[in-house]
Amino acid sequence: MVSDKFRPEESTLDRDPLESEGLNPDPERLIKEDTINFEVLKKLTGQSVLSVNQFDKELVLEICKFAALLESKEIAQSHPLDGKIVITAFFEASTRTRLSFESAVLRLDGKIISIPEGGTTGQAKGESLSDIGEMFNAYGDCVVIRHKDTSALGEIMHNLRIPLINAGNGTGEHPTQSLADWFAILKWKPELKETLNAADRMHLGILGTPGSMRAVNSFLRMSLLFNQNIKQISIVSEMADPLGEELTNKVKESGMDIIITNDVNDVVSDLDIIYMNSIAFLGDSYKSLDSRFKLDEKTKLKDDAVVLHPLARLDELDPMLDGTHHNLYFTQAHGAVFIRQALFVSILNRFNRLPKEEIPIK
Ligand code: CP
Repeated sequence: MVSDKFRPEESTLDRDPLESEGLNPDPERLIKEDTINFEVLKKLTGQSVLSVNQFDKELVLEICKFAALLESKEIAQSHPLDGKIVITAFFEASTRTRLSFESAVLRLDGKIISIPEGGTTGQAKGESLSDIGEMFNAYGDCVVIRHKDTSALGEIMHNLRIPLINAGNGTGEHPTQSLADWFAILKWKPELKETLNAADRMHLGILGTPGSMRAVNSFLRMSLLFNQNIKQISIVSEMADPLGEELTNKVKESGMDIIITNDVNDVVSDLDIIYMNSIAFLGDSYKSLDSRFKLDEKTKLKDDAVVLHPLARLDELDPMLDGTHHNLYFTQAHGAVFIRQALFVSILNRFNRLPKEEIPIK
């Protein structure tokens, strides 16, 4: 059956490809009457990105503002990544992360060498990750790696002398995902750059288990940087201890008020931002959820609440929400290209290749 979304009478040329269903906040709102501090961004030059622990709020804001600028200006004609080669090495499946990293590079005229499936490397013959890392030094200027083993980054970095970007390591972290998450949130509500009045602070809900799910782990860590604008975080998880010791200590240090529940309906009507993920990653499959963890058109969301999801989704997030103003998840996925461009320009120090008339750098 042909989907009712297929509209043969409508030419795709008439439609902006980035105008997806749901909210599409204008990136210029994030940089209006503001300047980008490129001195802060230059701290990233030559650096690897492994964990959200490397970031402070100032750096997150400057990366997101730079991404907003890249989203709103036409800069490809100045070929910012010309002559640079990025290696994308994916030892675990991905739709968004690999393609958005590669799109980010190609749209800035860099080149890509891609390993879309780790089994095509010498690993299939028993080669070690540290030897593979040694080879990357000669073949590219930066490597983006995803691996199903949490410890893989340490092994690959053993011999690596070029910057590495962690694109998701097992149950560890996914730091550039949380930059894309907060980029979407800040485009939606630019006031979060400043300190809000107590009455305007957000109630943030996280559906998932930060202690064992990398996207929610990194999202929680980054959200703690915005603690002065968050009145409470509610974690909805099947686990009695969804954080684990290290994250629990981090939350305590931040002074954040956290409650834990196992039914989204306990808190959903008060949530301003809902971050959800498939609840449990089991190797190559996901454990499906019962109705206590799902959002659909019957869920009593606050009128102006927004939903984020790093995707892929199963049935925890009903497509009925796609066409509503609660949907920030498509913007979240699309904006990842510009976050990743901002990272590459910063890490590879190509600020001087940006068009000076569009992006004046002092
Ligand atoms: N958000 C995310 O990590 O998606 P993929 O698994 O498709 O890369």
